Amino acid sequence: MGKRTAIYPGSYDPLTNGHIDIIERGLDLFDKIIVTALKNPGKTYLFTLEERMAIMEETFKGRENIEIDYFEGLLADYLERKNTFTVVRGLRAISDFEIEFQMALMNRSINDKIETIFLVPSISYSFLSSKLVKEIYKFGGEIKSMVPDIVDKKLKEKYSKK
Ligand code: PNS
Repeated sequence: MGKRTAIYPGSYDPLTNGHIDIIERGLDLFDKIIVTALKNPGKTYLFTLEERMAIMEETFKGRENIEIDYFEGLLADYLERKNTFTVVRGLRAISDFEIEFQMALMNRSINDKIETIFLVPSISYSFLSSKLVKEIYKFGGEIKSMVPDIVDKKLKEKYSKK
């Protein structure tokens, strides 16, 4: 039987412990997870694509079943290029459901082979988001329990440069 691979797309600006939790849960179900960061020239990120990817490379160093990649344009086209049609997404709350449901159906309408699997994070990460992490950090709050150490370090560098 071929190895089962799933794609976990996202912005990852930056990676949080919530994403890591979903990846580890995903690896209970799949042999390999490809974590792929969106490169959207129309969007303003705090971290560049290179920085977002470097954080993930560092976090998952030595993990052969986790691949870090990026994509530009439609996720459906990326899945086609990878010849992998299983997408993993985390569902934190009902509020995530609407947009996720819409994206899953839109992706499937583009390509019927695309299947989206929703994983639920640990309750302790259910309120976590990259956006809130950045906001809390910016206003001097404590985020150490929410992100890997490297993200805490990179946020410090980022804001000291500003
Ligand atoms: O971490 P995010 O921001 O919730 O991830 C959203 C992402 C990157 C998965 C989504 O915006 C996406 O797939 N964008 C690529 C463009 C695309 O395919 N759009 C149509 C999907 S319905």
